[in-house]
Amino acid sequence: MKLFRKPSREPLWRDEFSVFSGEEKYVSRRQFSKFLVLTSLGMFVGNLWILVRSWFSRQPSYPVMAITHVDEVPVRGVKLFQYPTPQEQCILLRTGTDTYVAYSQKCTHLSCAVFYSAATNRLECPCHNGAFSVHDGSPLQGPPRRPLPRVVLTRKGDVLVATGIQLEG
Ligand code: FES
Repeated sequence: MKLFRKPSREPLWRDEFSVFSGEEKYVSRRQFSKFLVLTSLGMFVGNLWILVRSWFSRQPSYPVMAITHVDEVPVRGVKLFQYPTPQEQCILLRTGTDTYVAYSQKCTHLSCAVFYSAATNRLECPCHNGAFSVHDGSPLQGPPRRPLPRVVLTRKGDVLVATGIQLEG
């Protein structure tokens, strides 16, 4: 007659909860690949969303504004105006009988006002001897590295109208 139960090698709870925790922590190659694919997909969708949002927010709207009558400015003459807001000075040049260009008057170096020099046929900045081309606003001399922002002009009858700002070139 046995008085005591013979102790088994496995504890009783293992029989009732037969879960192999060691195997549960094991991540298969398939699970890991799935994780990588889903994470990459999430990052791709996130970047796409940022790109779409920045693309839409980067399109500022500019007012359409009459600048001058075409005969008001003589050939190689200049007219100053404000565009797109009253705080932003711009300069209009009549480079030929029928050609006009307009730029922001703010130097791209440290924001001094540029002026037209008829002697050199350039837009010049007195602060650090910077100079810009009247044809495309590109920097010609001195510290400025970026071109002057160009005001987009269209002619409506005998009136020059500003329709936007072109930042590069
Ligand atoms: S601010 Fe125009 S050259 Fe420096």
